[in-house]
Amino acid sequence: MSEAVAFVGCGRITRAVVGGLVSGGAAPDTIRGVSRTGAGARALGAEFGIRAATSVREAVDGADVVVLAVHPHETPDALRTLAGVLAGGGPVLVSLVASCRTEAVAAALPGVAVVRAVPNVAVAARHGVTVLSRGPHCPPEALTAARELFAPLGEVLTAEEDLMETVSALSGAGPALIAHFARALARAGVGQGLSADTAGALAAHAVRGTGALLTAPGATPDAVVDRVASPGGMTEAALRTLDDRALPRTVQQALDAAVRLSLGRLLAGPESPSVRS
Ligand SMILES: NC(=O)c1ccc[n+]([C@@H]2O[C@H](COP(=O)([O-])OP(=O)(O)OC[C@H]3O[C@@H](n4cnc5c(N)ncnc54)[C@H](OP(=O)(O)O)[C@@H]3O)[C@@H](O)[C@H]2O)c1
Repeated sequence: MSEAVAFVGCGRITRAVVGGLVSGGAAPDTIRGVSRTGAGARALGAEFGIRAATSVREAVDGADVVVLAVHPHETPDALRTLAGVLAGGGPVLVSLVASCRTEAVAAALPGVAVVRAVPNVAVAARHGVTVLSRGPHCPPEALTAARELFAPLGEVLTAEEDLMETVSALSGAGPALIAHFARALARAGVGQGLSADTAGALAAHAVRGTGALLTAPGATPDAVVDRVASPGGMTEAALRTLDDRALPRTVQQALDAAVRLSLGRLLAGPESPSVRS
């Protein structure tokens, strides 16, 4: 990545993206960050050597890509400030804001090419996945610029804007859901007498190794299950218990709840004071 990138909002997801970019070889002096209080930007400056700007204007000056990474309820404010400094076009605007359509961002920033991106936090380890959707009147070059930004951090896919709330629930939240399962698995191991360290390491390696198997060309979850579970064996006993307790239905309900919340925020609009990521 040789282009200059400015991050407006320097919280958890920006830290993950910047961490992945810098560990992948991006020059820290091509990255600037700005945040509301300055605390987030200064923390990233100290951790990764990026430039902590003291104003949005300073951060975006000369940037090729501006990444907006604030919460939905903080977005109207941030967009008003950006509208003042990006008047008439300039850099590509990549919005990571949940529950915020590209149409809304593009309407606030006339003449600016807008791409929406949903990275997951695994971009920090450069094993992430980022899903992109294109805003109205967004030229293909803008999508290419967004793709090039996230490509060093893992897979980059595209989706229709209408599906981005579902993408956020499955993919953005995905690492938390998988970590939640890993925690439950480790606690179950502790319940059977393993030390917390050993059980935690075994669960973590199960997740890591399964990820490698599942992302191999042609792999499917069914095939991975088949490689482990022999008829009448202990894995089958464990899987049957999960299915008897309706794990697939519970996972469906969990995803439905996340999507419903995100769609509800869309309908409420970003000005709603109750909107939170
Ligand atoms: N976390 C994830 O895995 C993930 C994944 C995909 C998308 N997202 C989305 O990314 C967005 C940010 O999430 P997060 O988890 O990174 O939030 P976070 O950790 O709470 O960080 C929010 C950041 O926004 C800054 N900020 C607030 N208002 C601002 C303004 N007007 N101008 C400039 N900076 C402002 C804050 O500044 P201070 O540091 O000064 O307080 C803080 O640095 C959300 O919309 C979220 O849904 C998150």
